[in-house]
Amino acid sequence: SGTRTLIRGGLVVTAADETHADVLIEHGRIAALAAHGTAVAESWTAERVIDAANKYVIPGGVDAHTHMELPFGGTAASDTFETGTRAAAWGGTTTIVDFAVQSVGQSPRHGLDTWYAKADGNCAIDYAFHMILSDVDERSLAAMDRLVEEGVTSFKLFMAYPGVFYSDDGQILRAMQRASDNGGLIMMHAENGIAIDVLVEQALAAGRTDPRYHGEVRRALLEAEATHRAIQLARVAGSPLYVVHVSAAEALAEITAARAKGLPVFGETCPQYLFLSTDNLAEPGFEGAKYVCSTPLRPGEHQAALWRGLRTDDLQVVSTDHCPFCFSGQKELGRNDFSKIPNGLPGVENRMDLLHQAVLDGHLTRRRWIDIACATPARMFGLYPKKGTIAPGADADVVIYDPHAEQTLSAATHHMNVDYNPYEGTRITGQVETVLSRGEVVIDRRTYTGRAGHGQYLPRGTCQYLG
Ligand code: URP
Ligand code: ZN
Ligand code: ZN
Ligand code: ZN
Repeated sequence: SGTRTLIRGGLVVTAADETHADVLIEHGRIAALAAHGTAVAESWTAERVIDAANKYVIPGGVDAHTHMELPFGGTAASDTFETGTRAAAWGGTTTIVDFAVQSVGQSPRHGLDTWYAKADGNCAIDYAFHMILSDVDERSLAAMDRLVEEGVTSFKLFMAYPGVFYSDDGQILRAMQRASDNGGLIMMHAENGIAIDVLVEQALAAGRTDPRYHGEVRRALLEAEATHRAIQLARVAGSPLYVVHVSAAEALAEITAARAKGLPVFGETCPQYLFLSTDNLAEPGFEGAKYVCSTPLRPGEHQAALWRGLRTDDLQVVSTDHCPFCFSGQKELGRNDFSKIPNGLPGVENRMDLLHQAVLDGHLTRRRWIDIACATPARMFGLYPKKGTIAPGADADVVIYDPHAEQTLSAATHHMNVDYNPYEGTRITGQVETVLSRGEVVIDRRTYTGRAGHGQYLPRGTCQYLG
């Protein structure tokens, strides 16, 4: 659009730098930065001037793992592309990479077209797609080449969920070989689903039906085993590997060992694994259902390993795996059988704030916050520097963040279309104040000014950490 915008007096924080700079926006992009108070900065004029004194000016968040409207467990994730991307904007996220799904028996093409249609005209912020492959056959392998060319450059495979999304080792190897040829990135849900299903059956037969058994049967060792196997298969195929939603310290150790060998293995974790634990799954009554996701929450001891992994760069990305199901009517499907609780947690609105709190708590530096939440996911999935940074030429996806504001996370005040918040009552210092998406103000001092349909589809390049 034609509006020239000037963001004045804030601390511009990127993955690389922190500078007191004014930011000039034209035609939806960052036009220039200049040190605050200098003659150049003082000479700038604009139709809209945003005062960012005592605030951070940060790139819009890039959430590389969301599941809006995902059909799962006989129901569907409760956020639509409309409600979920609006909530993302409220939380300072301006790009999501969601998962289009190939169902068993369907072509990837059909799955992707279905997801294009779901999102088209409904999003408040920009969006892209990965593709879940549930049926790796010759047709799917051939489709991978075309999808990479089309800008869907990453493919999620599942070692879990036999009969739903599951691929066997032969299918995984073939998909990895294909990705090695076409530049695609394989994303792995690494849990040994065949073994887990045996433990599920045994737990239910013994009358262990409560939500906490979801965490007990999905053993950390079975996440570690699958992570190890995925890494070896990727080595054999000569392909890079991105392990999604790492929750177990033992699985992280496999990634750390692979990276120490110089292998192109990457790891993602999520706020739920950093801030929640099996204590939540064991909450009285059926409350634990609110915390059922896979990989599952782990005992609190695992959190220290994950924070360390984020600091040492053995984990590179924090995404939400936002996959909300209401407690009422959806999580309740598993009242008498934990295996029927739809898997997934909300979080797309809370990620930037939780990670800012982690900065205050000493887990991360400010720049690392922006790195794991904005810059690295953009690079990992071929969107950088259009997304993930504040630099001349980048899209003007910018958040004015008030690091001193106090807030309490709650379903009563959140904007996600789900009837609970897993972080209910958590106090956060720091809050999103204003959000721009391609230069348009979509959150204006905590009022939503965006619209469904502003968000554009983003074809992506390949992973920017590979040659
Ligand atoms: O429990 C989860 N994570 N649900 C979403 C699907 C997935 O495996 O990422
Ligand atoms: Zn213009
Ligand atoms: Zn998964
Ligand atoms: Zn997921």
